[in-house]
Amino acid sequence: MPPTESAIITAMPALDTLGRPMRDLRISVTDRCNFRCTYCMPFDEYQWMERHEVLSFEEIERLARLFLDFGIQKVRLTGGEPLVRKDLPQLIEGLRRIEGLPDITLTTNGALLAAQAEALYAAGLRRINISIDSLRADRFLALTKRGNLDDVLAGLFAAKKVGMTPIKINAVVIRGTNDDEILDLVQFSRENGFEIRFIEYMDVGNANAWKLEKTVTKKEILETIHARFPVREIGREHGSAPAVDYEFLDGAGEIGIIGSVTEPFCSSCTRLRLTADGKLVTCLFAESGFDLKALIRSGASDDEIRSQVSKIWALRTDRYSDLRWEQVRTGNYQAGQHKKIEMITLGG
Ligand SMILES: C[S@@+](CC[C@H](N)C(=O)[O-])C[C@H]1O[C@@H](n2cnc3c(N)ncnc32)[C@H](O)[C@@H]1O
Ligand code: SF4
Repeated sequence: MPPTESAIITAMPALDTLGRPMRDLRISVTDRCNFRCTYCMPFDEYQWMERHEVLSFEEIERLARLFLDFGIQKVRLTGGEPLVRKDLPQLIEGLRRIEGLPDITLTTNGALLAAQAEALYAAGLRRINISIDSLRADRFLALTKRGNLDDVLAGLFAAKKVGMTPIKINAVVIRGTNDDEILDLVQFSRENGFEIRFIEYMDVGNANAWKLEKTVTKKEILETIHARFPVREIGREHGSAPAVDYEFLDGAGEIGIIGSVTEPFCSSCTRLRLTADGKLVTCLFAESGFDLKALIRSGASDDEIRSQVSKIWALRTDRYSDLRWEQVRTGNYQAGQHKKIEMITLGG
């Protein structure tokens, strides 16, 4: 019997035009969020997705199964805020049943985590990233517009109590806003056994008023930490993770720093994103995505979907952050001129 199209595709190494394989799948389960973080959220002009536009759990599971054939090694659930999606543990259980699917990670703002940590763990979630940019309640509220720091800390410790590991804290560093808390955040993470990852403030979406001066560089973050808590570079996980990891010389754990703006890593970017309404997006800074939902809802077969994904990846040329950094350095970058999909639509 001749091999099916899917068998041929599976046998093909899925490399894009720059020779990058497909390895990390980020699935946004909703564009809704219970916070309004100033650095992430668009303001008034955002059109929320209609409920019928959002992929069902069955549709997400089917696509995840098909993506596996291309060599996906990591799956992250994100949003918007993934924990506002009803019955999320059911999706995790469904994904965990897919043979060969790697460990699932979740990125959350943590506000609803205390109530859901046990169910998420029971569904099979072990790894989690929780975003905390400030340990000062008033500043936390100002940054998130709606966030209560105590609720988030309760979620963080609930995750620890049920046994999730590793637990990583994500902190975006913004000059003049929370850059004076880098060491407090490190100290807190060291004391409590969490791994902190600092993220350079980026110009995601279209309405977050990003300015280069507000980005505290990876180098600055590292120097601040190293002066107080000496560290040694370990490198990027699997060679392609966004964060460069460092370990404390005193053995008290690790930190990571994501230099998306000043040390772009497009050349090793193996990520693709599925939006909550089923668009396949191959770059965090993309203008648009391919409508996989339309394809699956039109009755396409698995082979047809694989074939489409394969074509999209084979044509992928994205290297937005590399180009941005070249333009920033020569004074030619105008953030507002580039129309991008909003972060809450895409999934961070
Ligand atoms: C878009 S959020 C989605 C998941 C969840 N709501 C959360 O906040 O963790 C994913 C990550 O993107 C980060 N993020 C959002 N806007 C950013 C920006 N302008 N620069 C850098 N990171 C950003 C957030 O801090 C968060 O860690
Ligand atoms: S960073 Fe996360 S919590 Fe904050 S507005 Fe964006 S999606 Fe919501």
